Amino acid sequence: MAVKKVEKIWMNGKHVDWDDAKVHILSHVIHYGSSFFEGIRCYKTPHGPAVFRLGDHVKRLIYSAKIFRAEIPFSYEQIFDAIIDTIKINELENCYIRPIAYRGYDDLNVNPLKNPVELTIAAYEWGSYLGQGAHESGIDVCVSSWRRSTPDTTPTMAKIGGAYMNSQLIKMEAITNGFAEGIALDVNGYVGEGSGENLFLVHDNIIYTPGIHNGILSGITRKSVMRIARDLGYEIVDGNLMREMLYMADEMFFSGTAAEITPIRSVDKMNVGNGMPGRVTKELQAAFFDVVKQGNDKYGWLTYIDGKDRILPMKNINAV
Ligand SMILES: Cc1ncc(COP(=O)(O)O)c(C=O)c1O
Repeated sequence: MAVKKVEKIWMNGKHVDWDDAKVHILSHVIHYGSSFFEGIRCYKTPHGPAVFRLGDHVKRLIYSAKIFRAEIPFSYEQIFDAIIDTIKINELENCYIRPIAYRGYDDLNVNPLKNPVELTIAAYEWGSYLGQGAHESGIDVCVSSWRRSTPDTTPTMAKIGGAYMNSQLIKMEAITNGFAEGIALDVNGYVGEGSGENLFLVHDNIIYTPGIHNGILSGITRKSVMRIARDLGYEIVDGNLMREMLYMADEMFFSGTAAEITPIRSVDKMNVGNGMPGRVTKELQAAFFDVVKQGNDKYGWLTYIDGKDRILPMKNINAV
């Protein structure tokens, strides 16, 4: 399904018509994948539309660029505000937001340092990422033959365009073989993550998730799930997980802005537990949706788009 067009896209400081939001074909980003981006969700709550962990997303965007020596020419506050304004100007409530900073048009050398860093923010309506009914029934996944990158190659803590070539290999292989998603191992053979989601499994009532050293993106939803799970009294083990733990798991699920909390019902054609979303998964999913959809936000994770004091100082936000 094509992206659902709205009126305006924010480009380098101003809103332009959707169809005019273009870059030159010789922009550095097109040739070398030099972009830094975020995926963020805004939810329609009973108290009005609210963006989930906006400050953490903006902070991760700035750090992703910084790792690549790119300074986004807008401040944390300006980006934060521009995201809210883009939702408002398009009169969106439930939506997905895609800020992307990228190396623009100048030289076409591998060296990006001369190319300008530009910033664009789009927002549009978007539904369930892993398919209709995925949240309720769960999805079928496989272990990918592709690995996540090693720590000293492409940094996985940065959310960068180029890294998604690896994600595309994982995703295409899974889809071609009839699965909804693939799980990539890290370079040492420990469990990593999906092509665009973090992974959790439950075994004997303990929740396990790969560590941030296992070639994964340090997901903002992952951190939220860990916080909610701890508050519900669960023990969480965060570290190296062997592949066989996928086959021993009682429950398994993906987390991510796009996937939210999506149960996994089988891996490599073996049922996870009894092949149905499990009790812990459902409890965490319900607690997560209670925050984002009902606005029962004891954590302060929601930014209401009509709120006044909505900008949190960057130093108070914990993105890592
Ligand atoms: C590779 C990868 N892992 C994990 C995630 C989940 O991260 P988050 O919860 O911050 O959306 C994403 C989504 O952005 C991703 O692309």
